[in-house]
Amino acid sequence: MCGIVGYVGQKQALEIVVAGLRRLEYRGYDSAGVAVVSGEELVVRKKAGKLVNLETLLGSDPMPDSTTGIGHTRWATHGGPTDSNAHPHVSEDGTVAVIHNGIIENFAELRAELNAAGVSLSSETDTEVVAHLLALELPAADRDLPEAMRRVCRRLEGAFTLVALDREQPDLVVGARRNSPLVVGVGQGENFLASDVAAFVDHTREALELGQDQVVILTPTSVTVTDFDGEPAAVRPFTVDWDASAAEKGGFDLFMLKEIAEQPRAVADSLRGRITRDSRIQLDETNLDEAALRAITKVVVIACGTAAHAGMVAKYAIEHWTRVPVEVELASEFRYRDPIVGPDSLVIAISQSGETMDTLMALRYAKAQGAHTLAICNTVGSTIPRESDGVLYTYAGPEIAVASTKAFLTQIIAAYLVGLYLAQVRGTMFEDEIRGVLAELDDMPSKVDLVLDTTEPVRALARELAGATSVLFLGRHVGFPVALEGALKLKELAYMHAEGFPAGELKHGPIALIEEGVPVIVIVPSPRGRAVLHDKIVSNIQEVRARGALVVAIAEEGDESITPYAEHIIRIPAVPTLMQPLVATVPLQAFACEMATAKGHDVDQPRNLAKSVTVE
Ligand code: F6R
Repeated sequence: MCGIVGYVGQKQALEIVVAGLRRLEYRGYDSAGVAVVSGEELVVRKKAGKLVNLETLLGSDPMPDSTTGIGHTRWATHGGPTDSNAHPHVSEDGTVAVIHNGIIENFAELRAELNAAGVSLSSETDTEVVAHLLALELPAADRDLPEAMRRVCRRLEGAFTLVALDREQPDLVVGARRNSPLVVGVGQGENFLASDVAAFVDHTREALELGQDQVVILTPTSVTVTDFDGEPAAVRPFTVDWDASAAEKGGFDLFMLKEIAEQPRAVADSLRGRITRDSRIQLDETNLDEAALRAITKVVVIACGTAAHAGMVAKYAIEHWTRVPVEVELASEFRYRDPIVGPDSLVIAISQSGETMDTLMALRYAKAQGAHTLAICNTVGSTIPRESDGVLYTYAGPEIAVASTKAFLTQIIAAYLVGLYLAQVRGTMFEDEIRGVLAELDDMPSKVDLVLDTTEPVRALARELAGATSVLFLGRHVGFPVALEGALKLKELAYMHAEGFPAGELKHGPIALIEEGVPVIVIVPSPRGRAVLHDKIVSNIQEVRARGALVVAIAEEGDESITPYAEHIIRIPAVPTLMQPLVATVPLQAFACEMATAKGHDVDQPRNLAKSVTVE
């Protein structure tokens, strides 16, 4: 949700900033803009639409050489995606440029104050007020941009990352953050600011995690951090553990295709180092206190979208293994319903980005109630793990495509590890049972690999069904969240009506949606193990078929009992029931990706969406 880049050093700032924006475009792509300080000048270029529009403008209207610059790629909140609402915004006197991610909640009041003071605003954004306020805080003599930033931040309400330049103070970039991401890249004779390390990982892997309500002052050779009152503030250094190639397409046409293909590795990496030679789970990094884990009476998972679907899958496993009740709550709803959480609850916040505002707010609520909090997160240095009591990182590597794929599988893995760890600590499973599940998990990278080798029939089917107006997904047990995930992928990428249902629920209403030829994709449970699930879903298939549905079954190898009932069968490897989501989701990702491609949509950057949703 808006990508921000700042650079100060010895090199051409514009090149570095635009390259950084290219890496951050997944965060928002309604408009983009840059500003540089060159000699006595502050120069800005900005353009509505994707970054390529800005790049075209820079080609026809070049900017001067400069070693200090900022850039922004926008996901519109206040004001539509127009040239004038694009960032950077500049103060009336033309001295200060600012970019912003987040929402300034008291902007109407500040805007009125500026109007009363005779300042005229040229955009509909909340951000522009900051440019004018900063300029008002900068007297002609004795200019101090960091102090101006601190003063302004003390007046702002809401969530914001701000980065500013002052024409009169070249070689200086000042940033600030509250409830919105900003990381520092520390180089040699150059320093960087960005919403995400992907923007600067080409130049340095040494980074600093900023805390809440901090102002950061960059020169080519120094990084200084204070709180909003000017007191020195602590930051946490970290080294980015992936290199620039991880944020490139690596020969694939789409980031989504690359990320789907990376899933076996992502799953293997997320398991690595967490299981001892004698098959015990060690999650030292989570700070989970064993006595506290023995005392909890419930687990509450808070998450949004795909991450919530991972939580729903994990609920089946954790309850089965630990006999501890698990609630899964959409984070955006959690704190508004007076939830019952307290010191006896383990609250698990699942988030790929670690910045989702709905999840962060739910986490804070849970903490305030005294709950033990654990983040499952893919982004080192992000806010949700920093504010949780402990964190279990997923090692999916950077996920750039807006639609989540590899993060989903690794979130399930991480949540399963937490479940097994709980079972180990509470003694609800025998050692050999845990060992058995760990062996199944260990098998998953190769099973996912097998699915990837056989996605062509799924793609062909997606092309064939691209004209459908609606697709329904059915599942039972862990297949139900998989159905929800399949439908979400199709909605967000192919812009079509898609819904996931628990197969048994269909007859209670949704079956009225079935008409001749409607594709219904059914995640068929294994006939082995919990055979009752399989038998029930075969009945559900018959119900929809009798009403004209075109049935596509996702069924395991060797399950011939399904053959008479499905027009199309997509085969997945035979795995235990609780492992099935890890293989059954993959064809659904490929299906949505291919259908969106067939419809001519931008798969990596679907309309209206942004990767990291930092507003509520
Ligand atoms: C869907 C998708 C979203 C995210 C959701 C939570 O493909 O990507 O539904 O899963 O916005 O994001 P994180 O995991 O970053 O909190």
